[in-house]
Amino acid sequence: MKYKFIERDKLKEKPQGELGFGKYYTDYMFEMTYTEDEGWHDKKIRPYGPIEVDPSVMVLHYAQETFEGLKAYKNDGKVYLFRPEMNAKRFQSSNERMCMPKIDTEEFINIIEELVNLERDWIPDSEGASLYIRPFMFASEKNIGVKVANKYTFLVSLSPVGQYYKEGINPVKIYVEDKYIRAAQGGTGFVKCGGNYAASLIAQQRAEEMGYTQVLWLDGKERKYVEEVGSMNAMFLIDDTIYTAPIDGTVLPGVTRDSVIKLLDEFDVKLKEEHFTIDFLIDMIEEGRLKEAFGTGTAAVISPIGELGYKGNSYIINEFKTGDLTKKLYDRLTGIQYGRLEDKYGWRREVKNDHC
Ligand code: COI
Repeated sequence: MKYKFIERDKLKEKPQGELGFGKYYTDYMFEMTYTEDEGWHDKKIRPYGPIEVDPSVMVLHYAQETFEGLKAYKNDGKVYLFRPEMNAKRFQSSNERMCMPKIDTEEFINIIEELVNLERDWIPDSEGASLYIRPFMFASEKNIGVKVANKYTFLVSLSPVGQYYKEGINPVKIYVEDKYIRAAQGGTGFVKCGGNYAASLIAQQRAEEMGYTQVLWLDGKERKYVEEVGSMNAMFLIDDTIYTAPIDGTVLPGVTRDSVIKLLDEFDVKLKEEHFTIDFLIDMIEEGRLKEAFGTGTAAVISPIGELGYKGNSYIINEFKTGDLTKKLYDRLTGIQYGRLEDKYGWRREVKNDHC
């Protein structure tokens, strides 16, 4: 193995039954440290477990933190990653925005492959289950002055997961948030940083209290244009065209979003990647032209949206059923991810057993 390996005394029991999301973690994780003088160093695969940080590490005060999310899929004993280079590039762009150090694409993928290969017995192969990979970086300099840190820690943990939502692959109810905002031009909407999610919790909590699963965010300036859902990009099938917000600073550039857009051609569905208002969307529901709605994300995969709540009204989409296109896209995407279908796009990357 390329990295220092610190072995556990005793391996854990593998979970049985419902995996949920983020409940279980594997035996090992990756860790490395960055300093200006030494660059990335002290690279190791070590037992998964608590890390010791000083109470004054900067991330705890000023939230200089970024993360990624991707999955390893197992089928017939083979293990695959899905477009990990896109996660590597997005991580680089997040880190640049947050004044954090770069990890090269090759190294990012190599770390993940080494760790996933070591933990391949943890990858579930039941329907819809996978190994969620969480790379993350945080400012670990001890200092409570507000400035760019000079020390960082990078970790990768692995979690065997099932469905993200309690609804499974059934439609979810989404509340259109018109008070709080997630992102504004010039901010960090396109960045995968913990701070974005922290600021979104109040709206999610409010939505949950009203019986919704997540919120649909509107733009930060006019609260008029549709952007994205808490943990996924949002897509709407109106007549024969998918409408989705463009990636122009406030929306997260999702890997699943990009893949679904590329798959639309296979189903002769057109794409409008442009700004559209919530009023337009409601009109389309009322005119019966909004046929299907769904969210796309690594954790959420492709999740049908069955209801939108907005300003005290509830709007049901496609009789609260999973639409045909949603189902076809889900089958096609997961078929490629799990190695069941031909991958003419070259998206799948096998993690070979002899990787080390
Ligand atoms: C993902 O889909 O991987 C995410 O990071 C969304 C969420 C779990 C925060």
